[in-house]
Amino acid sequence: MSLVQLVASFRKITDFYRDRSYVPYSGREGASVVLLADGQYVPGVRIENASFSLTMSSVQNALTTAAMIPSSVIVAIYSDQEIDNAEADYIGRFPGMNLKRFSPELFSNAEPSRLPDPKKVCNPTSHLPPTLLPDSGIALARDASHDAVVHESDFPVGCLLQSDSNVGIPGVNIEHPDWSRILCAERNAIGTAITFGAGDIKNVYISAPKDPDASPCGACRQVLVELAQRATVWMDRGKNSAMGEPCDQLLPYYFSGHTIQKPNPLPKR
Ligand code: THU
Repeated sequence: MSLVQLVASFRKITDFYRDRSYVPYSGREGASVVLLADGQYVPGVRIENASFSLTMSSVQNALTTAAMIPSSVIVAIYSDQEIDNAEADYIGRFPGMNLKRFSPELFSNAEPSRLPDPKKVCNPTSHLPPTLLPDSGIALARDASHDAVVHESDFPVGCLLQSDSNVGIPGVNIEHPDWSRILCAERNAIGTAITFGAGDIKNVYISAPKDPDASPCGACRQVLVELAQRATVWMDRGKNSAMGEPCDQLLPYYFSGHTIQKPNPLPKR
């Protein structure tokens, strides 16, 4: 496949997903797509936050979703906008990959002519029973933690979100030599949920098997309260049953950002 043909295929995919971006502060949508060695692809959209530094780029969202898929081999990433130097460094040092820049928007580990045609979306979501019990949700989050990428801390975390329509969205922590680019399990799951259009979240299950007292970090509380506000957050308590708290009670007096949202977001395409 030529570079031009490959970019055209990627462009079609990013065009499809772009308007799922959550960009109430800038209105600037963005989408990226990761290609796996078997021809499956993993999309990711841009997700902003009232606390600006917690914004997830589409590149980070796509890569962190792809990295948690068991035995996935990432061979390329394409972004619908030019990949800047900071993002290029993030991609270049991402664990277990060896991607080089081919064009302003494309990183790949081989000549485009040797890459597979992106043919099928790889969707990590599943259907959950509406009657899922808290401890069963925690068991699934604990299972998910086995897919964490934790070279830096050796501290795996697993998360499972349950949407109102009972879609299950997994997340794990994905680490990076640049610690400021490490993504927690909860935010990875939220990014995946938005990209795949999962809708409102009713339950968040979190497990850090190495720490029976673990609770979501401040950054995740801020992101969860903005994007899963009505959810109950269930925390693994080891041998005891799960502890549940309403999401907004985990971060009293949180910064909502409602006054900085753009009054007229861009019209949907
Ligand atoms: N971590 C999470 O995944 N979620 C949290 O809420 C707390 C921390 C991860 C991030 C990092 O990979 C490791 O745990 C140690 O901070």
